[in-house]
Amino acid sequence: MSPPLDIRGFRFFPGFLDRPAQEALVNVLRDLLRNAPLYQPVTPRGQKMSVRMSAAGRFGWVTDRRGYRYEPRHPGGMDWPPIPEEVLAIWRAVSGATREPECCLINWYGEGARMGLHQDKDEADFSCPVVSVSLGDEGLFRMGNAERGGKTESIWLKSGDVVVMGGDARLKHHGIDRIRFGSSTLLPQGGRINLTLRVVT
Ligand code: SIN
Ligand code: MN
Repeated sequence: MSPPLDIRGFRFFPGFLDRPAQEALVNVLRDLLRNAPLYQPVTPRGQKMSVRMSAAGRFGWVTDRRGYRYEPRHPGGMDWPPIPEEVLAIWRAVSGATREPECCLINWYGEGARMGLHQDKDEADFSCPVVSVSLGDEGLFRMGNAERGGKTESIWLKSGDVVVMGGDARLKHHGIDRIRFGSSTLLPQGGRINLTLRVVT
């Protein structure tokens, strides 16, 4: 494994997953999403988000009129499926953490979907990093600062890329400005999947 590229403390592992590993992971996720279907989340202010979400693990991150939080069940009432072994293996290889992730958030970006600049801060323990895995179409990832505002830098995330947000970068703002719909052949219908692994408690 070559050393990661460091931008503002965000550590990038370009092409961490080769094409066969990406295809295997998509198949695993397809099965998982049959039991925990993607849904359209609503922000606490009532805006529909452009991404579709689901999750795996002990907790799923959810948002609705009651706020942002972790929940032990899918909004449909079922338990979240366990985090697949293939995904845990990525965490173990790059996170450097002694704890295992308790949430694997699944974000699906269709044409025009985006994710505004935000911090991941609904977790209890910021000493553990956040690990993000990109599959499918390219996404323009913007990185900011721990404080609001200031200069930002962007990088296109490609299918198979992994990003670790730990240390100084753990509480930095980040988001996806846009995707290049149809830029990857991994997902036959196009779109981008992002997995975000986090320790919650
Ligand atoms: C997120 O931070 O919630 C998603 C990041 C991404 O889609 O790459
Ligand atoms: Mn995030």
